[in-house]
Amino acid sequence: MSSKTTPDIDTSFKTDVHKGLTSFPKYLYSKYIYDSAGDKLFQDIMELPEYYLTSCEFNILSCHTQEIATLFNNPKTGFDLIELGAGDGKKTKIVLRYLSDNNFDFVYKPIDISQNAINSLAETLANELPDVTVDGEKGMYFEVLERLQKYNSRKKVLMVLGSNIGNLLHDKAIDFLTKLKDIMGPEDLLFMGFDQKKNPQIILDAYNDPTGVTAAFNKNLLHRINRELEADFKVEKFKHWESYDPESGTAKSFLVATEAMKVSIEALGLTIDFDPWETIHTEISQKYDDKVVQWLADAAGLVIETSFKDEKGYYKDYVFRRKLD
Ligand code: AVJ
Repeated sequence: MSSKTTPDIDTSFKTDVHKGLTSFPKYLYSKYIYDSAGDKLFQDIMELPEYYLTSCEFNILSCHTQEIATLFNNPKTGFDLIELGAGDGKKTKIVLRYLSDNNFDFVYKPIDISQNAINSLAETLANELPDVTVDGEKGMYFEVLERLQKYNSRKKVLMVLGSNIGNLLHDKAIDFLTKLKDIMGPEDLLFMGFDQKKNPQIILDAYNDPTGVTAAFNKNLLHRINRELEADFKVEKFKHWESYDPESGTAKSFLVATEAMKVSIEALGLTIDFDPWETIHTEISQKYDDKVVQWLADAAGLVIETSFKDEKGYYKDYVFRRKLD
């Protein structure tokens, strides 16, 4: 995502910030963390030893490349591989390389909210995997999904890696899965990553690294509001806090005010009061198990065809098909 985006995103950023900071308890949406600074910080998170999600999914894709490629393919028609939230495509490249080396007939369609991400991905792929046809598109998940309705000339495989679905509460996750289901035909597949429940300490550590990268990522929201909405958050007066409820599987990020404060947000004509230790809830990172994924799939009209887990069993990629009615 970029900081200067469409007027659309601009106004919803304003409205959402206004709404979130005048609510009780206060909240901000995590999607707004990802401006160019936030994108960069997220790249850094993916390199952290504590942030196991990336290496686990890398492990899955590396160990099961052939099986996954065979699952994706239709030997008669070939297929379209559509990735939502492609980012730098680092994990996807494992599969793309295999598909390319083995002359599979496919088009790779990466979709990302950041035009930057799309452009640099297209560029690196042109160098590294010149035989892969890349047809990238910038856009928000839902708006692109609508355009993808007509993308049905042959088998399509929708891919959402990184446990990105974990930012959604279950109701919203079901909405999202249902929208994906709606654009799937009977032979189409959805390949999606879900971070699994595990030792709660491992999860807490993944969102609370000692080097403070995750804290900086979370605080980027306040920097962004300062810059884009002419606010005067004293960012160093906020503490990054992570919680994990092993019962619900919900990890939650907060920014906690360490003292009473008044913050003025010029562009909203708004002054916000903080009590000492008042919170802003910024992100959820939901963790799953097979039962929960099964339940979400069922509620969305999908069935689980198969799944792949990493060697440690921390993370799973599930393959879904549309439920036949
Ligand atoms: C990109 C949403 C999957 O929730 O694990 C990483 C974002 N936040 N560290 C996650 C994130 C803090 C990440 N997702």
